[in-house]
Amino acid sequence: MDLPSGAQPTQQPIAVIDSGVGGLSVWREVVALLPAESTVYLADQAHLPYGPRSIEEIRRFVIAITESLLGLGAKLIVVACNTASGAALTALREMFPGVPFVGMEPAVKPAVERTRSGVVGVLATPTTFQGDLYRRLADRFGKSVAIHTQTCPGLVEAIECGATDSPQTEALLKGCLAPLIGRGIDQLVLGCTHYPFASDVIATIVGSGVGIIDPAPAVARQVRRVLGTIGALAPEHDAAGHVFVTTGSPVQFAEQLTNLIGVEARATAAVWEGSSLRIGYFDFKEKQRERWHGRL
Ligand code: DGL
Repeated sequence: MDLPSGAQPTQQPIAVIDSGVGGLSVWREVVALLPAESTVYLADQAHLPYGPRSIEEIRRFVIAITESLLGLGAKLIVVACNTASGAALTALREMFPGVPFVGMEPAVKPAVERTRSGVVGVLATPTTFQGDLYRRLADRFGKSVAIHTQTCPGLVEAIECGATDSPQTEALLKGCLAPLIGRGIDQLVLGCTHYPFASDVIATIVGSGVGIIDPAPAVARQVRRVLGTIGALAPEHDAAGHVFVTTGSPVQFAEQLTNLIGVEARATAAVWEGSSLRIGYFDFKEKQRERWHGRL
């Protein structure tokens, strides 16, 4: 591992984590809004999908990932996964009190503000609906409007395979969305960071009368706000470097980066050793010098 030697805290990277490629829907917004910021993206693809796992197990993974990323000097951690945020955000803030975290929660608030029918739908993983974050949202907003929840088993895996608009994915989504459409929703919250990659198909199925809410741009603004508040924004003309790390196959992850978000970059391997995570070598200075082929 080689992070910029003698770097100021402002030049240290933002870490973005997810079980897989889903967090890239957040990463691309962060990078577009904050082009001078360096990032480390970590995909725990060895444990994907998180959605059906227990809260305790996901919390263990996310705590270990956080420890590794803090070891790299991450200045802020974006938990770009609704499932992991619901399972671990409270514990992370308790365990690492000086560390700024930005998490995800289903964007129920904007949906409630925008609905005219008074019926909104939330599409997320089973564990997200079991977590504290979602329970609090449902308690807070479920009195004024009807909130209907729905899972879509297999959708995360389909997106990981790049099948964002295949006939099979369309059929899967039609089945999952039918109960929500039947209840008369006029707002649909994408409560999993993988789902925005299928938003074209989702929009076709639900029709133009239903607003689709992806919180990623708001999360990017929150990252900017938090860094500004603690005086940790990178100097405006800094050369940003981006590192992609996966606990799965780096070759496959590099392909996913290209196919999903048009970014050409190598990925680095990370290996679970018992309950701790060892991240392979990368030269951050080289990343900052690398010509950036990203299409953001
Ligand atoms: N992307 C994750 C989320 O936002 C979940 C994917 C998974 O089930 O691993 O919930």
